[in-house]
Amino acid sequence: MSLGKTFTLNTGVKIPTLGFGTWQAEPGQVKDAVFEALKAGYRHIDLAKVYGNQKEIAEAFKDAFNGGVPGLKREDVFITSKLWNSQHRPEHVSAALDDCLAELGLEYLDLYLVHFPVAFDEPSNPNEQLFPMQESSSHPDGDVKMFDGVSIVDTWKAMTQLPKSKARAVGVSNHTKEHLQALIDGTGVTPAANQVERHPRLLQSELIEFCKEKNIHITAYSAFGNNMLGVPLLVQHNTIKEIASRLGASPAQVILAWSQVGGHSVIPKSVTASRIQENFKEIELSKEDFDAVENIGKVEPRRFNIPYIANKPRWPVNIFGTPEEQEAPHKVIL
Ligand SMILES: NC(=O)c1ccc[n+]([C@@H]2O[C@H](COP(=O)([O-])OP(=O)(O)OC[C@H]3O[C@@H](n4cnc5c(N)ncnc54)[C@H](OP(=O)(O)O)[C@@H]3O)[C@@H](O)[C@H]2O)c1
Repeated sequence: MSLGKTFTLNTGVKIPTLGFGTWQAEPGQVKDAVFEALKAGYRHIDLAKVYGNQKEIAEAFKDAFNGGVPGLKREDVFITSKLWNSQHRPEHVSAALDDCLAELGLEYLDLYLVHFPVAFDEPSNPNEQLFPMQESSSHPDGDVKMFDGVSIVDTWKAMTQLPKSKARAVGVSNHTKEHLQALIDGTGVTPAANQVERHPRLLQSELIEFCKEKNIHITAYSAFGNNMLGVPLLVQHNTIKEIASRLGASPAQVILAWSQVGGHSVIPKSVTASRIQENFKEIELSKEDFDAVENIGKVEPRRFNIPYIANKPRWPVNIFGTPEEQEAPHKVIL
């Protein structure tokens, strides 16, 4: 079965560059959405413990791999999931992977990522209590209780020791150049991938340059600019719409084509069958159209997913070093 366009990870394994996202795909919708995606041809599925929908996604996998999608087998699909922030203590990492596999009814993941370079407090059961809260907080939505006793290097070391039979490759998400360098210096092991927010308003050019040099694959999340701030999606941006109408394509297809230039992968989310199919139809962009999309981020740069200002409850931590995070009382522990 064809994998479509692929990129070869630093482990030698191929990852399809067009994948499928599952965040905010609600229970009751997500099983059908993942099944539809597999039926439409997606062979790269992005998951996470914290999305709270892995048990339902397991049903879609079971149906698809047992004849629901003719000929499709587990080994035809590249499946990624993520270690959550409350599971960062080295002694919890292996159990967290086992819990993740049990939720999904799978024997292995193709890629297991550290979801964020921050650790939350770890309650008695870090697999179930995902958002431990501070007892008192000045913020109306409350503050998550951070844990500064484990560094990102400690967690990464434990990730690198996971059995390859259960996690074929390990990587990270939401890591900056500084965080990645700390992991490499601290363990000698380079993450296979870094999954980060990337869309026409957030080009991530410096990070991409660094990752290229280190042979770290970039996966783009929130390619359409999904955010919790109520700003219109980038499929409504005039430049994108103009290119799409000239090419007889959809705005989503233009963004997805731009996203994959350079071998990056992209994981659009949809629970709508027609959009799932539309997003899987690949188009090619000319150099001029690629540059026009790229120019959006030069003129109107914007990062949406900043947990200190966008998340409920708030995460009191400075992850990306943006001006918005300067007042956050915690920092990433290297
Ligand atoms: N590592 C991380 O920290 C992190 C953070 C965020 C996301 N992610 C991953 O990246 C995936 C994608 O990012 P995202 O979920 O933030 O958002 P996204 O893919 O940028 O946007 C999803 C939104 O776009 C809509 N949409 C999809 N196709 C469309 C089309 N053809 N035309 C118009 N609208 C369309 C969807 O609506 P419908 O669903 O209603 O069709 C949904 O509202 C996530 O699902 C998750 O797997 C990872």
